Amino acid sequence: MFGKAGKAAAVAAIAALALTACGRSDSGSSTNTGGGEAFPKDSLIGVALPQKTSENWVLAEKLFNDGLKGAGFKADVQFANGGVSEQQNQISAMVTKGAKVIIVGAIDGAQLGTQLKQAKDSGATVIAYDRLLLNTENVDYYVAYDNFKVGELQGQALLDGLKAKKPSGPYNIELFAGSPDDANAKVFFDGAMSILKPKIDDGTLKVLSGQTAFEQAVTQGWKAENAQRRADTLLTGSYGTASLDGVLSPNDTLARAVLTSVKAAGKPLPVVTGQDSEVESVKSIMAGEQYSTINKDTRKLVEHAITMAKELQAGKELEINDKDSYKNGVKTVPAYLLPPQIVTKENVKTAYVDDPVLGPITK
Ligand code: BGC
Repeated sequence: MFGKAGKAAAVAAIAALALTACGRSDSGSSTNTGGGEAFPKDSLIGVALPQKTSENWVLAEKLFNDGLKGAGFKADVQFANGGVSEQQNQISAMVTKGAKVIIVGAIDGAQLGTQLKQAKDSGATVIAYDRLLLNTENVDYYVAYDNFKVGELQGQALLDGLKAKKPSGPYNIELFAGSPDDANAKVFFDGAMSILKPKIDDGTLKVLSGQTAFEQAVTQGWKAENAQRRADTLLTGSYGTASLDGVLSPNDTLARAVLTSVKAAGKPLPVVTGQDSEVESVKSIMAGEQYSTINKDTRKLVEHAITMAKELQAGKELEINDKDSYKNGVKTVPAYLLPPQIVTKENVKTAYVDDPVLGPITK
């Protein structure tokens, strides 16, 4: 539907939402000139992860520790469960310890400007991991699954699931989005809305609450209790006798929260989307409750981030497959995007065949 241009516009819109910043917009990268080692093989690589808001982050911690050490680096992998200021302090500490590459999964991608400047001033390379870093020229690369595509797949899955239950509309749906401080949340929502909005406009989909704007759909901190509370309120306020046929949920944690709320209300379960392939959600899909999830294998994403660190160390050119989409408010960040995969009951048995945790569960 919306091709590259739509995606670029959506991602640029995120950047525009963020505070405007002045300054240069050069590429900012000084390391990969193509000639010889840029820094010693046993250098420190810092990885700043956000809060443990979904299983993918927890998995990433171990994968980074093992993978970086396996590659001969020293690793400093930190979570910031205490919030933004903790993450700021962790990044500053990585700079002080002399990290040569700092990989950042930001809690709030627009709040790290000072620390990222420190990182770049020290000569480190900054890689945004999974979530883009906003309003700063001090980010060199971005590595992530294609977030806009994730949203498109979720929107399409919702339509497919509704159609499978009842061949024609109108269908009553509600929309949930992720945490507004996470740069991904709006991209997921915009991707999904690129599919759903035309169907809302032509009356196939009805949002009985009327809450179709991102700001109305957000879930602070990606917290299950916040999504559950909003679902409770929506059900009481707008679904007295009406059925709720479908829910756009941006990830698995929130999908399960919505399902809990609907069960408590004693209503039939709607078609609910998700993301992350969390164990409980994959089981729920197999049991016919949650409709879909997204397979974004964390092992591949971490592996690629570590490959980038290795290439930087060796002074090699980095592989980039998206030069245009990720505008962060100051610059376009060269990105390496991996393809996400939709998973429903139909392909759940084949999707995870080489996953050590999900493979055995879905056999
Ligand atoms: C990630 C999602 C995850 C969410 C909450 C996002 O930035 O891309 O995979 O569900 O954070 O942790």
